[in-house]
Amino acid sequence: MKGEGIGFGKAILFNEHFVVYGIPAIVSAIGKYTVAKASSFEVPELKLNDNRDATPGYKEDKLEQQKTSINNIIKRMNIDFSGEGVEVELGGNLYAASGIGASAASCVAMARALSDYYALDLSDDEINDIAYEGEKGYHGTPSGVDNTASTFGGLIWFEKAETNIIEKISLPNPVEIVMGNTGKIADTTAAVAGVRERKEKNSDKYKKIFNRAENIAYLAKRALQEGDYREVGKLMNENHKLLQQIEVSSKELDFLVSVARNYGAFGAKLTGGGLGGNMIALTPGKELQEEVANAIEKEGFQALKTVIGVSRSGDSQ
Ligand code: PMV
Repeated sequence: MKGEGIGFGKAILFNEHFVVYGIPAIVSAIGKYTVAKASSFEVPELKLNDNRDATPGYKEDKLEQQKTSINNIIKRMNIDFSGEGVEVELGGNLYAASGIGASAASCVAMARALSDYYALDLSDDEINDIAYEGEKGYHGTPSGVDNTASTFGGLIWFEKAETNIIEKISLPNPVEIVMGNTGKIADTTAAVAGVRERKEKNSDKYKKIFNRAENIAYLAKRALQEGDYREVGKLMNENHKLLQQIEVSSKELDFLVSVARNYGAFGAKLTGGGLGGNMIALTPGKELQEEVANAIEKEGFQALKTVIGVSRSGDSQ
């Protein structure tokens, strides 16, 4: 018996952190994904072979969280190892790093591989639900934005609510982005906790910042639908400023953001939990994408060239 499944990497274009408090976020799957392959294992347990390429230290750092995550997934899927066990191998072309959705992609891929292996025929909604339980192992109380993008693909408007609001945003054309990796492993739980603490202490200041973040989401949605990438870029720059104000950026992120802007990116911002991890630059057209990626690499950082809006069939939408 064998099973296989994939989960997309993701980039948050707007409103990481704000999304935790119900402010809309815009997130996209990227053209890189984690693949999980399940096969039988003689010992009654789930054995993991994590063969993903990763930022040095990433896998070791996340090992304990990964164990909790896998246990959450097994529990949610009611898998019973009283007979034989299962071996899951993680691979694929998504480089495991902070801010790129590596944890969500692995949860989604694993849930799909196990669903396939045990012939459970689970729907995307069910996979998303299981992956959310898995994500709790990494983040404690995740908003659900990462696993949603990782499961459904495409470009998504996401609002955390009693029943989350998940809407597809259609892009007129696929759009190139560059993601720059600071090489620093970041702890999303700590970043989220820090925001909560500062928000409670400075409620007036944070209220203003959060209000503007909400406005930006609506403006960005319209600009994306109209294909007005200059406007999208401007709004990304402003969103980065708000993220700096809530103190989740870092000097490496600010540096890479300024490199990308200096080389012509339409906009650039940190993406994901911040305090390290990745940034994203909007670089419509292969030429601009190449230029910005080269500039980041010349500074000694890793750059990933990909597109936003990738669907499950691999098309951009
Ligand atoms: O650090 P990442 O890539 O897992 O992104 C986390 C996004 C946050 O908004 C900071 C947290 C959340 O649960 O939404």
